[in-house]
Amino acid sequence: MSRFYDLNRHMTAETYDNSPPLDKPNPTEPVTLVVFGASGDLTRRKLLPAIFQLRCQGLLPETSSIIGFARSDKTDESFRKELRDSTRDYLTCRAEPADDDTWGRFARRVFYHRGAYDDASDFAALRKRIEELAADDHISGNCLYYLATPPTAFAPIITQLGQAGLARRGQNSPWARIVIEKPFGRDLQSAHKLNEQVTSVFDENQVFRIDHYLGKETVQNIMVLRFANSIFEHLWSYDYIDHVQITVAESEGVSQRGGYYDQAGALRDIVQNHMMHLLCLVAMDPPVSLTSDAIHNEKVKVLDSLRPIPPECTANGVVRAQYTAGSIEGVEVPAYRQTPNVAKNSGTETFVAFKAYVDNWRWASVPFYLRTGKCLPQRCTEISIHFEDVPKVLFNRPPAGPLPQNVLAIRIQPDEGISLEFQVKVPGAAMNIKPLKMDFGYAETFGSAPPDAYERLLLDAAMGDETLFTRSDEVEAAWRFVTPIIEGCSQVCCDDILEYPAGTWGPKEADKLIEADGRVWHLR
Ligand code: BG6
Repeated sequence: MSRFYDLNRHMTAETYDNSPPLDKPNPTEPVTLVVFGASGDLTRRKLLPAIFQLRCQGLLPETSSIIGFARSDKTDESFRKELRDSTRDYLTCRAEPADDDTWGRFARRVFYHRGAYDDASDFAALRKRIEELAADDHISGNCLYYLATPPTAFAPIITQLGQAGLARRGQNSPWARIVIEKPFGRDLQSAHKLNEQVTSVFDENQVFRIDHYLGKETVQNIMVLRFANSIFEHLWSYDYIDHVQITVAESEGVSQRGGYYDQAGALRDIVQNHMMHLLCLVAMDPPVSLTSDAIHNEKVKVLDSLRPIPPECTANGVVRAQYTAGSIEGVEVPAYRQTPNVAKNSGTETFVAFKAYVDNWRWASVPFYLRTGKCLPQRCTEISIHFEDVPKVLFNRPPAGPLPQNVLAIRIQPDEGISLEFQVKVPGAAMNIKPLKMDFGYAETFGSAPPDAYERLLLDAAMGDETLFTRSDEVEAAWRFVTPIIEGCSQVCCDDILEYPAGTWGPKEADKLIEADGRVWHLR
């Protein structure tokens, strides 16, 4: 039940006549997209449907091809059939199902290449195939390599691409680019090593470290909200902001990904990447321009300003927990340790909460409370900006006070939108004050849910725009902050990890973390 008075009104969000004309993206040059890890879940659920959507929108030229590269034994035909089924499932959720003709024209350009990630002859054969496709279609043969494999395969694939002459370093046409999925390393040291490996074969401007959160419309809108409006930025500092909360809540467990997740945990899976990006976008200074480097420079400054949490402080400052059996929306959920491929005595965290400080002039002593977890009561990613209390005079004294703080809540997903909470007088002779929420919803305003993040990111990679990808120093700066926390946590015995029943908002220690400062979680 909302604590807000039932006076909700939706903002009218018509575009004004003098609003700038809307840009339409241009189609890319023809490209051969080579997906390593083509038998995997990511390829089926996200990449191929996104590529198909780009083709349907005319953003990917007809002469572009997709080559799936993996170890399993498949033919072009069996690969296409698998993809047809998974793409149909995906599209049913968010678009008109594709008719057979449209799919047929697309599928003719989809191929399967069986190979091992460390076998030079398989990569020589791949090169031959890429060259033949380019020759048949009279195109230059631009290549976008997508590493959708487990991280252990990244280094061998990069090496083989280099040795097969497929990296085309320093070459503008035909170009080659590489997209590397997260997690990029397991800690600072391994991320640094992977950066060295990849930049020994490719130039930095050929490398696209992907974090799909950056492709979400609502995440991109954080910069627009802050820097295309004059009302917020003046308030965006320790002068007016009491604290910031970032919650990435998932109602799902780890389903089929137990093997990966048990080695990662919430700190590596969500905090080091998705949450650090959200924090950077909320906390960064205005970049000098909208170029990729200008934006990355500001994000790196935020990461470099984060107050370190040394290993010896994690026991008190970082709440780590794992879900036990419970129920979510009436469905029984087994304990994390019962998940296939998860160790029966696993000490991996499925929930983490902590307080961070950005030690620079703008954010001096403003706490950022971060929280993420699996098997929580609802799926919801939200950033909430909590403004300072009004002075304890006039309305902020009993009986009306204390008044709730003004809160600007940015709903990243689902129900994408932004709301502003403030106080109003209830009509009538008495001076009754109630909190009210003014709400903007993407779906309601723009008529549909935002496009999938992978569509935007694949398009940008094919265009060579690195703005929504992670630069090498950025990924290392994020690891520099997160690695000591992981080290501190690894000193805790597996059986000492806190627990929370699936379907709850984590352990009570997470509430105490914020309540100790006289505050409460915005989502609860
Ligand atoms: C991935 C994580 O990066 O993001 C998953 O590996 C997580 O564990 C997923 O579930 C969440 O993404 P989204 O877009 O569904 O919020």
